[in-house]
Amino acid sequence: MSTPRIRTSVARMHAYVPGEQPRDSAIVKLNTNENPYPPSPRVAEVLHAFAADRLRLYPDPACTALREEIAALHGAQPEQVLIGNGSDEVLALALRAFVERGGAAGYFVPSYSLYPILAAIEEARTYEVPLTASFDWVDPDPEEADLFFVTNPNAPTSLLHPRAALQSFCRAARGVVLIDEAYADFARAHCIDLALSTDNVLVTRSLSKSYGLAGLRVGYAIGPAPLIGAMAKIKDSYNLDAIAQALALAAIRDQTYMRERTQRIRTDRDEVAAALRERGFHVYDSETNFLWVRPGRMEAAEWFQALRERKILVRHFAQPEVRDHLRITIGDEDAIEALLQAVDAILGV
Ligand SMILES: Cc1ncc(COP(=O)(O)O)c(C=O)c1O
Repeated sequence: MSTPRIRTSVARMHAYVPGEQPRDSAIVKLNTNENPYPPSPRVAEVLHAFAADRLRLYPDPACTALREEIAALHGAQPEQVLIGNGSDEVLALALRAFVERGGAAGYFVPSYSLYPILAAIEEARTYEVPLTASFDWVDPDPEEADLFFVTNPNAPTSLLHPRAALQSFCRAARGVVLIDEAYADFARAHCIDLALSTDNVLVTRSLSKSYGLAGLRVGYAIGPAPLIGAMAKIKDSYNLDAIAQALALAAIRDQTYMRERTQRIRTDRDEVAAALRERGFHVYDSETNFLWVRPGRMEAAEWFQALRERKILVRHFAQPEVRDHLRITIGDEDAIEALLQAVDAILGV
C-alpha cells in the first residue's frame, strides 16, 4: 500500500475542536452557545410544507430571495450580501479570497479559535494580537495583516470592543477587516454601517445563535460589492441547499420573533450574571448569549468537572490566557435553575 500524500499544511495542523455534543439528553447543555428556544414557528411551517420533489433540482446558486431579504433588512443592495453554509464558511472564503499564500491573517487572542485553523489550512502566517489581561482592546498594527478578524462582541470573552477604536483601526488597516458579529443580535451595538461605508470592511452574521438555527448552517457577510464578489467567485456553486434557503428566508422574515427571543435571553443573562456575582464569581459584562466568568474558591477546570458530574456542561478552554475562566451559555428557565442549584451544591450552601 502506498503512503497517502497529505498536503504538509494539513498534516501539520491541529483540527478545530468543536464543543461537545453529548448523547445523554439529561445533560444540561450550556457549552456551545446554541439558542434554548426553537426557531420561529414560520420556519416549522415552511419545513412541513416543503415539497420533496423540489429536491430534484439544484438550488439557486445565488440564493437570490434570501439575499434580497437580508439586503433589505440591513439597508444594503443584494450585491453587498454573500450567504454561506454557516458563517464559518464565509470566514474560510474570506481567508481564501483576501490572503495571498504566505500572507498574514490577524486576530486577537483570545477570540474565535477557528481563525488560526483557517490560516493553517491556507498556509497563511498569523498575526496574533493579545488583548489586555482584562480582555480589553489593544490597537493592532494596521500594516501587519492582509485580513484581520475582529470578533465583536468577542467570544469567548462576551465583551463588545469600543466602537471608536475599532473604527479607526478599520480606516487605518492596509488589509480587509472582517468583523465577526455572530452574537451581535444580543448586543447594544453593531457595525453594519461600517461595512456599508468603508471599502475594506466586512461584517459577518450567523443564524445559529439569535435565530435558533445552528442545525441549519446559514450565515452571511455584508460589505462592499467588490469584496463580496471576490468571495462569491470562489464559493461552491451550490453552497446553500434548497431547504436551508427556504427556512432561512422564513426566519429572517420573522424579525419580531427573533427580537422577542433575544430580548428574553438578554434579560435572563443579566439575571444569571447577578446570581453568579452573588455567589462569588467574577462575571464580565456580557453582550452575547453567554457569560464569561472567573469562578472563585476552586480552579475553573475543577468547576468544569464538578458541574459536569452534576450533568451541567459548560465550556472550559485550556489555553493559558483563558484557563481561569468558564464560558456558560444562557439556557432556558429550567437550565438556569439547574445551573444555579448545581453551583450552590458545589459551594455547599
Ligand atoms: C465568533 C463566532 N463566529 C462564528 C461562529 C460560527 O457560526 P456558524 O454556526 O454560523 O458557522 C461561531 C460559532 O460558535 C462563533 O462563536
